[in-house]
Amino acid sequence: MKDQFDREITYLRISVTDLCNLRCKYCMPDGVCQKRHEDILSFEEIAEIASAAAQLGVRKVRITGGEPLVRRGCVDLCRMIAQIPGIEEIDLTTNGTLLDRYAKDLKAAGVTRVNISIDSLDPAKYRAITGGGELSAALAGIRAAQEAGLIPLKLNTVLIGGFNDDEIPAFVKLTRTEPVELRFIELMPMGGHFGPEAYLPGDTVLERVPALEPVPHNGGVARLYRLPDGKGRVGLISPLSRHFCASCNRLRLTSEGHLKPCLHSDREIYVRGKHGEELLETLRQAIYAKPRMHGVLDAEHPSGAGRTMNTIGG
Ligand code: 5AD
Ligand code: SF4
Repeated sequence: MKDQFDREITYLRISVTDLCNLRCKYCMPDGVCQKRHEDILSFEEIAEIASAAAQLGVRKVRITGGEPLVRRGCVDLCRMIAQIPGIEEIDLTTNGTLLDRYAKDLKAAGVTRVNISIDSLDPAKYRAITGGGELSAALAGIRAAQEAGLIPLKLNTVLIGGFNDDEIPAFVKLTRTEPVELRFIELMPMGGHFGPEAYLPGDTVLERVPALEPVPHNGGVARLYRLPDGKGRVGLISPLSRHFCASCNRLRLTSEGHLKPCLHSDREIYVRGKHGEELLETLRQAIYAKPRMHGVLDAEHPSGAGRTMNTIGG
């Protein structure tokens, strides 16, 4: 269905847990607080909400976290959602470190493809930004996803000035030989402890690698580029310097059952416990509550999300 501003809402992002096996500095600046099992939506509840959303026109679902694969049975949930009539695509956003174990099962469950977060190609820097993660585990996950056919694979790199901007050429170089979409995401001010120098515009990538050529746009939120001889693509996602509110087609569901009409607003609509027509009506309300756009976002103007990223899922 359409919202008040004529945007067709076709995309539901579902956070299945706040928990994660990593502690990325921009996502969980102050650690994580454990929820009780009964406070988290069951798989049946999630599937019921996703079915209702499909009745209203949602065609694509993304499973996020925290780290979705730390929730036991995540593969089973993916299978349940893949079977919902109307759902044409189901994707996962993951840090990749558990994909070595789950990639094949996810593919068999009906998952279309995965996005994997990777913010440094240097093991020590990766350990620093993720609060102790092993780069080798993420790289093994990337390989496993490719082998399992969870493609086209997208890699997410949050651009952090003074931390990984020196690695821009190395990241871009990956797309010469690998058929992946490497996406640089502007750091969003979500409560992490970063100075103003950390907020680099996506265009920095084009300045550092002038060889990148634009690729005709495919309608997603990323501006796309490629190296002349590249098998892959480079995407720029610029929520700060060029927000994409005008084409926003998404609705978010938190692990406890709050619908979030906009990532950067604290407006939430509790949907747990609603069924049938009442559930549909609550979803319609949330779609209708989507603002035309969010306010300014930069180092001085933090997001109004009212939550850290691990409780929203990106
Ligand atoms: N700014 C930009 N991207 C973020 N992500 C998490 N927090 C932020 C932030 N503050 C990204 C992660 C991951 C996805 C879940 O969201 O890198 O790819
Ligand atoms: Fe975990 Fe992803 Fe947050 Fe990093 S960004 S702490 S991998 S949920």
